[in-house]
Amino acid sequence: MGYKREETSEYHAELYPYLRSWGLREFHDEASYYDWQRETLSKEELRDFQQLIEHRCGGEDVQGDIDFYDRLARRDLIPVLYSQRFQYYLTIGTFVCGRIAPANKVLDFGCGVGILTLFFAQQHPGVEFVGFDRSSRSIEMACLEAEKRRIRNVRFEISQLPPQQISGTYDLILSTHALFQAEWEPGIPSQTWKTFQRPCDPYRQEQLEILTGLQGRLNALLQALRPMGRMILFEKTWNLGRRILFQRALDTRGLFPVSSPVFCRYRSVDEEMIDGPLYEVARLSYGVEPFEWNEEPYRGSGETLYRCTGIAAERMGQVLLRDTVRASITGVHSQSGSWVFRFGLWNEIVPWGLCEYSSGLTGLVIGGGEDQDLIDQLVETVRHITESDFQELVHDFWGSMIQAPEDPSMPCYENHHPSAQIIYESLPSKCIQQETTFKDDMGREMHIELGTTTHLTYLYCANTFDQRQLVLIDDGRAQVLYEYYRESLQRPHGPPA
Ligand SMILES: C[S@@+](CC[C@H](N)C(=O)[O-])C[C@H]1O[C@@H](n2cnc3c(N)ncnc32)[C@H](O)[C@@H]1O
Repeated sequence: MGYKREETSEYHAELYPYLRSWGLREFHDEASYYDWQRETLSKEELRDFQQLIEHRCGGEDVQGDIDFYDRLARRDLIPVLYSQRFQYYLTIGTFVCGRIAPANKVLDFGCGVGILTLFFAQQHPGVEFVGFDRSSRSIEMACLEAEKRRIRNVRFEISQLPPQQISGTYDLILSTHALFQAEWEPGIPSQTWKTFQRPCDPYRQEQLEILTGLQGRLNALLQALRPMGRMILFEKTWNLGRRILFQRALDTRGLFPVSSPVFCRYRSVDEEMIDGPLYEVARLSYGVEPFEWNEEPYRGSGETLYRCTGIAAERMGQVLLRDTVRASITGVHSQSGSWVFRFGLWNEIVPWGLCEYSSGLTGLVIGGGEDQDLIDQLVETVRHITESDFQELVHDFWGSMIQAPEDPSMPCYENHHPSAQIIYESLPSKCIQQETTFKDDMGREMHIELGTTTHLTYLYCANTFDQRQLVLIDDGRAQVLYEYYRESLQRPHGPPA
């Protein structure tokens, strides 16, 4: 889900050199990041740094958290630590900076060493900024940087919220990864493993808000928000259980989204992250038509595309070709021979494309329901493709698989996303062979099921914290799934990876 907006692009260009001025560097692979860590820090510094990260306490250990940020607020550690967050800063910084107007007075709650606060203040010299954090060493560093950079429209305060109060009122309050940390808390479970819906339980909601510290922080921030003020909040609420807990906490305090919440995707070194969503909320008195809260799981287009070649593609292809073929495009390649690329919508839900060469290569791509547009684009591309571009397309889709030795246990289809549920529900002539439902050691209700559908065997795992996994394999190789099923029962922590 993109968020590119005209108004924010200028800040992106400014933010890049700004982050470099803090010594942060952008890395795209782990090896170069760790090499650079070793070059930048002495052996002792590196050991201290790693120990700090490893020994960070979970839970609501306030003093432990303050110590952690105090000890990290060192000018030599900042580049190493925050380079991992380079793309995070670019993404969030650009987005938030574009939404600061028309505020005149802005509070940045949990500002840390002020990397984002100082950038916002620099970009909006007519706006008064206050950065607020309970780590005194972080605030010290933020003040030094403000001085060094001669940024005068910002001040920083050491404060722990609660018990301390915020002095003054603001027409914009920001919080990025500060208000709802508590990563150990998965939030509200769904009613059963069959659904993503959460029951409405005000008592449990309040208990969780107290447990995670959200209640005290949010109430204190609200007191400092002017009647027509806004909040821009970006927290680790990607998981639905946490997202619903957070959204309901905002809702019960009379806060509503005034723009569409945005999930952000960025890279953390070599890992693709989905974070947020980023909320812009205000009270009803703000005067704009509020957006609805969305309690559905996140579904990103393209995320669930499954590709396979060889035996898995051939066997699944035989099943798919029994269904209606919606488009069939043929061509000839001078070296690889003739090809046919067929497309369809299995069970009216699952879009697919099957490419077969006369020389024997078969490649299959299957999407989740939300990938229909991508498959439609693929049909259009293949319709108008040149010979050399076609080879390139095949290479892009299945390149490494074509070269690698064939894996005999490769599934015909696999989906680890919420969209697996609707596909599981739509499987034709489903016949359950074995199933079990139990509570795992984290209290999640977990369901594992093995069964058959037309010409295929399936394994389905689901739990009350939105994990879903659907694996399909042809009947000839079904033994693989029987073994998976047996293993899953011996490993009651979750579906097999
Ligand atoms: C993960 S850092 C995020 C820093 C910054 N907002 C960013 O996006 O880079 C979280 C910060 O929130 C601060 N913080 C957490 N809870 C707080 C509280 N109750 N009162 C004040 N500061 C708090 C921590 O000290 C830490 O500096």
